[in-house]
Amino acid sequence: MSALDRLHVMLPSLGLMETDALVESHLERASKEQQAYADFLAELLAGEVEARRTRYLRTRMRLAHLPYQKSFAQFDFSFQPSLDKRQIKELQTLRFLHEASNVIFLGPPGVGKTHLAVALAMQAIEAGSGAYFITAHDLVSDLGRAAREARLERRLRIYLAPKLLVVDEMGYLPLDEVGATIFFQLVSARYERGSIILTSNKSYGEWGSIFHDPIIATAILDRLLHHSTTVNIRGESYRLKDRRKAGLLPHPERRKDSGN
Ligand SMILES: Nc1ncnc2c1ncn2[C@@H]1O[C@H](COP(=O)(O)OP(=O)(O)O)[C@@H](O)[C@H]1O
Ligand SMILES: [Mg+2]
Repeated sequence: MSALDRLHVMLPSLGLMETDALVESHLERASKEQQAYADFLAELLAGEVEARRTRYLRTRMRLAHLPYQKSFAQFDFSFQPSLDKRQIKELQTLRFLHEASNVIFLGPPGVGKTHLAVALAMQAIEAGSGAYFITAHDLVSDLGRAAREARLERRLRIYLAPKLLVVDEMGYLPLDEVGATIFFQLVSARYERGSIILTSNKSYGEWGSIFHDPIIATAILDRLLHHSTTVNIRGESYRLKDRRKAGLLPHPERRKDSGN
C-alpha cells in the first residue's frame, strides 16, 4: 500500500474528510513550491478547521429555527431614522449576551423588529453561542401542553439551554392565566443566566392587557427589564413602503396616527 493509499484510509477514519479530499492537491503544491513541512501541514489543517467551522455554524443555524436569515448589512438604517445607531452598534458587540441581559424591540408591525432580532441571533451564532427563535404564541402553547402532561420542568430546559432565546411577537395574542404563569416561570429561570430578545407591538404600559393580570405583568417586566436594553422603533412599516411608493396608500403625514 502506498503512503497515499494509507492516507486515504487513515484520514476518513479520523473524520478528516476535508483533508482527505484535498490532500493530493496540497501535496502537489507543496512539492511545486518547495513548501516548508510546517507550512504544508498548517495549510492542510487550516482547510479542515474552516470546513468544520462552516459545518458547525450550519448546524447551529438550523437548530436556531430562525424564520429567515437577515443580517445587519441587509437592514436599511436610513429608512428607520428613529433608530439609535449607537445603541444598535453596542448590541452588535454582543456584550449583552455575555452579561445575560435582555433586549426588547418595541414598535408597530413591519418596522424591522424581527429582522433585527434575527440579525443579532445570527451574530451570536457566528460568535459561537447557541440561539433559539420562537414566537410567544408557540412558546406558550408548547409549554402549556407540557404543563398539562406534567412534564413542564423537562420541556422548559429546551428554552433554558441556549445562551440566547428570541421570543417574537409578544402581545399579538393575549395570554391566559396559565400562559402568563408559564411565561413568568421562563423569564425567572433565565433571569441573570441567559439573554432573551423579545419583540412586541405593545408598549410596556399595555403589557397588563397581554397578561390579563397587572400583578404578573409587573413581575415579568421587573425581571425582564432589570438588565436590559429597550429599542423603540417608531417609524413606518417597511412592508408598506413599496405600496406607498406606488400610490396605493396615503402618505404617512396625511394619515391619522393610529397610536399603536
Ligand atoms: N429598515 C429595513 N431595511 C431592510 N429591510 C427591512 C427594514 N425593516 C424591515 N425590513 C424587512 O421588512 C419585512 C418586515 O420586517 P420585520 O422585521 O418582520 O417587521 P416586524 O417589526 O413586524 O417584526 C422583513 O422582510 C424585513 O427584512
Ligand atoms: Mg415581526
